[in-house]
Amino acid sequence: MVSVPQVLTILGLAATQVMATIDPSLAKTPQMGWNSWNNYACNVNETVILDVANAIVSSGLKDAGYHYVNIDDCWSVKAGRDNTTHRIIPDPAKFPEGINGTAAKVHALGLKLGIYSDAGTNTCAGYPGSYGYEQIDAESFSEWGIDYLKYDNCNNLGLQGNATVSSTRYKRMGDALKNVSRPIFYSLCSWGTDDVWDWGRSVGGQSWRMSGDISASWDSVVSITGQEVPIANISAPGGWNDMDMLEVGVKNSMTNTEYMSHFSIWAAMKAPLILGNDVTNMTSDIKKIIANKEVIAINQDPLGASVLQRWIKGNTQLFSGPLSNNSYVALFLNLGNSTATMSATWSDIYNSTTVNSKKSIPVRDLWEQKDLGNSKGKISVSVEAHGVRLLKLSGRA
Ligand SMILES: *[C@@H]1O[C@H](CO)[C@@H](O)[C@H](O)[C@H]1NC(C)=O
Ligand SMILES: *[C@@H]1O[C@H](CO)[C@@H](O)[C@H](O)[C@H]1NC(C)=O
Ligand SMILES: *[C@@H]1O[C@H](CO)[C@@H](O)[C@H](O)[C@H]1NC(C)=O
Ligand SMILES: *[C@@H]1O[C@H](CO)[C@@H](O)[C@H](O)[C@H]1NC(C)=O
Ligand SMILES: *[C@@H]1O[C@H](CO)[C@@H](O)[C@H](O)[C@H]1NC(C)=O
Ligand SMILES: *[C@@H]1O[C@H](CO)[C@@H](O)[C@H](O)[C@H]1NC(C)=O
Ligand SMILES: *[C@@H]1O[C@H](CO)[C@@H](O)[C@H](O)[C@H]1NC(C)=O
Ligand SMILES: *[C@@H]1O[C@H](CO)[C@@H](O)[C@H](O)[C@H]1NC(C)=O
Ligand SMILES: *[C@@H]1O[C@H](CO)[C@@H](O)[C@H](O)[C@H]1NC(C)=O
Ligand SMILES: *[C@@H]1O[C@H](CO)[C@@H](O)[C@H](O)[C@H]1NC(C)=O
Repeated sequence: MVSVPQVLTILGLAATQVMATIDPSLAKTPQMGWNSWNNYACNVNETVILDVANAIVSSGLKDAGYHYVNIDDCWSVKAGRDNTTHRIIPDPAKFPEGINGTAAKVHALGLKLGIYSDAGTNTCAGYPGSYGYEQIDAESFSEWGIDYLKYDNCNNLGLQGNATVSSTRYKRMGDALKNVSRPIFYSLCSWGTDDVWDWGRSVGGQSWRMSGDISASWDSVVSITGQEVPIANISAPGGWNDMDMLEVGVKNSMTNTEYMSHFSIWAAMKAPLILGNDVTNMTSDIKKIIANKEVIAINQDPLGASVLQRWIKGNTQLFSGPLSNNSYVALFLNLGNSTATMSATWSDIYNSTTVNSKKSIPVRDLWEQKDLGNSKGKISVSVEAHGVRLLKLSGRA
């Protein structure tokens, strides 16, 4: 396993300079959980959050690694802050026992609670934002028992346009979170603005959205994947490019094949795995996808290196990357509308011209959960339209 100082050295950063701004223990691997927005939008309340939290436990998703239950926008009193304390007020109709009451119940299930705010005057739905009130809000979140903050980018007073201006705005909350007693995961939702992947880590961010919002469609999955390709090498333990919430199982938006591709790409690119579907009422097909332990293990591999794109041939693309224990993962992606046969040599997969092209290496299909036997020098697979094959290779050539 690569230590945090080693990773920082690889990133060309002085360890001492950065150690103070991140709490690496919260982000050793990409975060996993659920967020309310995709399924409930503004219609969130304690009942919904507890129903979801209970379902995450009873369905086995907690055991599969999903630990954060994140409340998105619309949880507070829209009219404004408390005029005396200047604190944001949880909506008493939606959260009758306060956010701290909900947090206590979520924690009792062995899960963590996330909340949402905005690096601007108001959230995207028009509720109070935290700009100018960072320390007050960080203190509220800490007192309430919050474990995770998703921090959006709406109504930001135009304080963007270059990395200095954007990072200064996001650093205010990063500093405030470092100044409270509770460790709180800091998830920047800045839509890739001003190349956040270059400065997200330095403002205390543990993940940062690298694109605009995902929508529940295959085209959106393909578009975000393309945007991630050139910056995929930036993700590393301590900080991750966030490709946005999963749309797997959201409103029958894609075929099962497309959902599996979406999940595979997010897993192999080390994106946070934040579910968005109604986990209280899932089909067994959907549950099988999001709870596949071998695919999740690729995402949570301690080495924390994203797959990189090795080539594009027509509608097909090869991605691969290292795993711990000397293993490797290869992702064969077919964006075309008909089945394709894809072949990759060891030099393709291991991205080296000096490989032992005769070497025999055991290969496992992670979706079929089946050993395919040993391959020698290359792999050829048939890949469905809009599908993937996700293979683990136990060794290096
Ligand atoms: C909570 O929200 C759900 C989903 O929007 C809604 O059906 C339910 O009536 C709400 N419950 C309360 C107590 O507000
Ligand atoms: C704070 O005061 C303003 C002006 O009087 C009022 O409009 C607002 O509703 C008050 N906020 C709350 C949360 O009561
Ligand atoms: C939540 O905070 C309120 C106000 O400080 C307090 O009265 C209540 O006991 C707290 N609830 C829990 C479960 O801690
Ligand atoms: C960034 O933008 C701000 C405000 O527009 C400007 O004052 C500053 O000079 C810019 N910085 C850089 C490095 O371009
Ligand atoms: C840290 O928090 C304390 C209150 O707990 C506050 O007085 C202080 O100004 C904060 N420091 C910064 C740098 O915001
Ligand atoms: C990522 O790769 C690009 C070239 O594609 C390179 O310029 C950059 O330094 C790399 N970044 C890291 C963190 O390795
Ligand atoms: C559960 O989902 C099915 C469709 O998959 C739907 O027909 C049914 O109404 C849902 N049940 C509830 C309680 O939402
Ligand atoms: C493959 O390796 C070469 C150097 O051998 C490097 O320049 C290139 O960036 C690598 N490509 C990928 C996708 O890793
Ligand atoms: C690496 O191998 C060791 C020994 O077989 C095993 O205990 C460990 O779980 C493996 N780690 C991963 C991430 O597969
Ligand atoms: C697949 O079919 C869709 C719908 O007909 C079309 O829009 C798209 O361009 C096709 N994709 C490819 C890669 O041919």
